[in-house]
Amino acid sequence: MKIGIGNDHAAVDMKNDVAAYLREKGIEVVNFGTDTAESCSYPEYGEKVGRAVAAGEVDLGILICGTGVGISLAANKVKGVRAVVCSEPYSAKLSRQHNNTNVLAFGARVIGIEMAKMIIDEWLGAEFMGGRHQDRVDMIMAIEEKE
Ligand code: RB5
Repeated sequence: MKIGIGNDHAAVDMKNDVAAYLREKGIEVVNFGTDTAESCSYPEYGEKVGRAVAAGEVDLGILICGTGVGISLAANKVKGVRAVVCSEPYSAKLSRQHNNTNVLAFGARVIGIEMAKMIIDEWLGAEFMGGRHQDRVDMIMAIEEKE
């Protein structure tokens, strides 16, 4: 399993903690984020991780900014990306099971590292259920084709 991780200046410390946690689990981590506290723009990192996921360079993406909102919005503009912002594990799990999300986002100014770990565990541990959920995901992806 290879995960692309991206972040802005608001989330450097959390990115490092999350990357270490993933590596402890034996997951390969590719760092697309900034590594300094210098102010930067989250769309750049959301797009980079989104493109890596869409191209199959990584299996999944994790994005962290202040809230998780801006960086996930940017990733969702990349064709093929289904990014979800989560502040709790239930939505993270269901976003995989029902929506087949391929990018997880959260906010370093919203949750702490222990909640982030729980969210990641639920997200990675869940499997897409397919069936009627596939039909609905297909409907979401078809919207891209209308643009
Ligand atoms: C940066 O100050 C902040 O706007 C960013 O990290 C994020 O929260 C945007 O959605």
